Amino acid sequence: MDTTVAVVGGGTMGAGIAQVAATAGHPVLIYDSGEGACARAIASIRLGLDRLASRGKITREQAEKANDCLAPATSLRELACAGLVIEAIVEQLPAKQELFGKLEDIVSPECILASNTSSISITRIAASLRHPQRLVGMHFFNPVPQMELVEVIRGLASDAAAVQCVHDTALAWGKTPVFASSTPGFIVNRLARPYYAEGLRVLNERASRPATIDAVMRESGGFRMGPFELMDLIGHDVNFAVTQSVFQACFNDPRFTPSLIQQELVHAGYLGRKTGRGFYHHGPEHVPPPI
Ligand code: NAI
Repeated sequence: MDTTVAVVGGGTMGAGIAQVAATAGHPVLIYDSGEGACARAIASIRLGLDRLASRGKITREQAEKANDCLAPATSLRELACAGLVIEAIVEQLPAKQELFGKLEDIVSPECILASNTSSISITRIAASLRHPQRLVGMHFFNPVPQMELVEVIRGLASDAAAVQCVHDTALAWGKTPVFASSTPGFIVNRLARPYYAEGLRVLNERASRPATIDAVMRESGGFRMGPFELMDLIGHDVNFAVTQSVFQACFNDPRFTPSLIQQELVHAGYLGRKTGRGFYHHGPEHVPPPI
């Protein structure tokens, strides 16, 4: 595993991806444009590795080795040595296109560019590149160290060898990769949209409270998480952006209409676990739910 992996965006997903790549033995560079974000990502990975070692999932030696593989990058230029760059920045097409445009001028022609986008067309992101064939979707699930599935997404222009390489990399990292084409939301996020949307509609109609709906879905429905606790885990900014993206990509199909309730949470900065508040309060003190 001597290929250097660069992860751009060190938030919820980027930190998890970097942890998995480092545990597999790659040198990993993390770049994030947010102030202090790289340091926070590395601190959270260290905590994650420590937790895994305490639970006996990995040895102390493996955790230390993975730790040693991680390094922050202070500029995109430092990613020039990467053989694989995985993007996990904000779920916005212009931001992703701009980033990949810059990366094309920095990395080697052999370097594979991968996007962890939840919903945006790989074909469309790639269309702005000089070499669109090098872009592949590599969609991990949250929390990355625990979730085995990785969707490997082919854009129309994606090179078959690059797609295969992303698939084989995911496999080598202990994941279960599945191929998908670049359709709106791919497989999981397309099929999961109605779960969130109906939950939000039921809430809007005042059928019940989020905690009750979640408990019903968990305890009787057999789901691991109810829709509201799952949206709090994902982050409302991310979940709302994904719904908007799928809605627009499906020519405003009303089935995927974004929720005003969720928009309110985003406007308030109640983004879920990452800000300590969403449908639930995720801090030590009791605060009544906003909805
Ligand atoms: P996040 O908000 O936790 O982290 C995003 C990070 O990217 C932030 O630290 C931010 O400072 C950084 N960033 C933003 N623009 C940047 C730029 N131009 N250059 C460098 N860094 C930049 O978001 P999260 O949840 O990690 O999502 C990232 C991507 O992963 C999105 O495309 C999202 O759709 C996707 N995703 C999210 C999942 C989730 O459950 N949260 C699951 C699977 C995919």
